[in-house]
Amino acid sequence: MTNKIKIAIVGLGQIGNYLYRELNSKKNYIELKTGKKIEIVAVSAKNKNKKRKFKIKKNIFFSNPLNIFKEKKIDIVFECIGLSNGVSKKVVETALKNRINVITPNKALIAKHGDYLAKLAEKNNVNLEFEASVAGGIPILRSIKEGLLTNKITKVYGILNGTTNYILSEMENTNETFEKVLKKAQSLGYAEPGNPKLDLNGFDAFAKIRILSALAYNNQISKSRCIMEGIENIHLKDIKIANQLNLRIKLLGISEIINNQLFETVHPCMVSKNSYIGNVNGVMNAVIIQGKPVGESILQGEGAGPGPTSSSLLSDLLSIMRGNLNKPFGVSFLKRKSIKPYNSDYYSNSLYLRFEVKDRSGVLSLITNRLANYKISIKRIIQTPDKKNKRATIVIITHKTTEINARNCLSIFRKNKNILKFPTLIRLYN
Ligand SMILES: NC(=O)c1ccc[n+]([C@@H]2O[C@H](COP(=O)([O-])OP(=O)(O)OC[C@H]3O[C@@H](n4cnc5c(N)ncnc54)[C@H](OP(=O)(O)O)[C@@H]3O)[C@@H](O)[C@H]2O)c1
Repeated sequence: MTNKIKIAIVGLGQIGNYLYRELNSKKNYIELKTGKKIEIVAVSAKNKNKKRKFKIKKNIFFSNPLNIFKEKKIDIVFECIGLSNGVSKKVVETALKNRINVITPNKALIAKHGDYLAKLAEKNNVNLEFEASVAGGIPILRSIKEGLLTNKITKVYGILNGTTNYILSEMENTNETFEKVLKKAQSLGYAEPGNPKLDLNGFDAFAKIRILSALAYNNQISKSRCIMEGIENIHLKDIKIANQLNLRIKLLGISEIINNQLFETVHPCMVSKNSYIGNVNGVMNAVIIQGKPVGESILQGEGAGPGPTSSSLLSDLLSIMRGNLNKPFGVSFLKRKSIKPYNSDYYSNSLYLRFEVKDRSGVLSLITNRLANYKISIKRIIQTPDKKNKRATIVIITHKTTEINARNCLSIFRKNKNILKFPTLIRLYN
């Protein structure tokens, strides 16, 4: 690499646009830290005529990002388009094949094609860096790859999606419904205006959990089916009841080695208000790592947004400019193993079950008898009648039971005239 590093930014949306300005304003600082100058020699976005926050010289703008590789000499490309397939994959693939270093915040791409792309990077002796793909500004990947390098990690979990954490916190603070708070999140730029589905349904956190697992346990990115639930069905009522029980609802991503098998999941959890994770609120993310001999390490910070994301993108840039040639997942693709998936049927938790029922005698015993038949013991029951509407809410906190047992037990409540809707189930998490 020469002393003038030639950079391309592909994608000038929320992230690419902020990154462009950061790179220009921090040129001198980057030179101070690395002894090298940078120059942005190409940018690309879909719409040539879109009004941008900065002036772009015509000779560096490309509507088709793949033409950059034909017309310009590039050392490092930032892929900031998004999504796992299509042009973003093509850009990264082409760059790596042309021995150009790649930096990307694109978790969907890395979670789906990370193994293949890492192999390509290693074969061509270039870097593929993706610190910004997990937990925004928190340097979690580098902590696992470098700071905690010699530890045997057995569990990584936490709040990995700022949008959902903001929504849950705001529902609790304002007593407003999911729909109202989602609109507020969209107007504040915390949730995508068009299609926030991938944040809300757990997919975004799940992609991050898969990347974290691969780094923590040196395994290939798993492809097995797992429990993935989002927050779309969390009702204000559940948040209020959790509050009374000194609990709080959080969307957690969990990756764990159980009996030498890999367990990955994303789902809403009820956690104690006195716990660390129970107090990570708003758009904050937090990742907790358990390892030997280090014990438990916690990293917390802003998990999204252009500022925190750019902080991670620039840390990748400076790492490359300082001459570090890293294996994308810390160890060579030849040495990364595949870990057998843990059967999620045997995942066990205490459960919060909320039943909406007709206020008739015999309904409570119908529920408790069914639970008893499946040996699900009850820790607590709260029954709240709604006399006016002749209905009642029954909340049951159970002792631990497995997924499969709970599923089988609850199945009959789908078709019972006294049960008004299928019970809401939220797992308690210690
Ligand atoms: N936003 C965040 O807070 C955040 C945080 C962490 C990671 N990320 C990741 O960062 C990446 C970018 O996110 P973003 O929020 O910046 O997305 P965005 O605002 O939707 O921007 C996407 C950009 O890609 C451009 N683009 C789309 N198709 C293209 C094509 N065929 N050729 C060239 N350019 C094309 C768009 O062009 P136009 O401008 O012309 O439409 C736009 O500039 C994603 O992988 C995302 O997951 C985002």
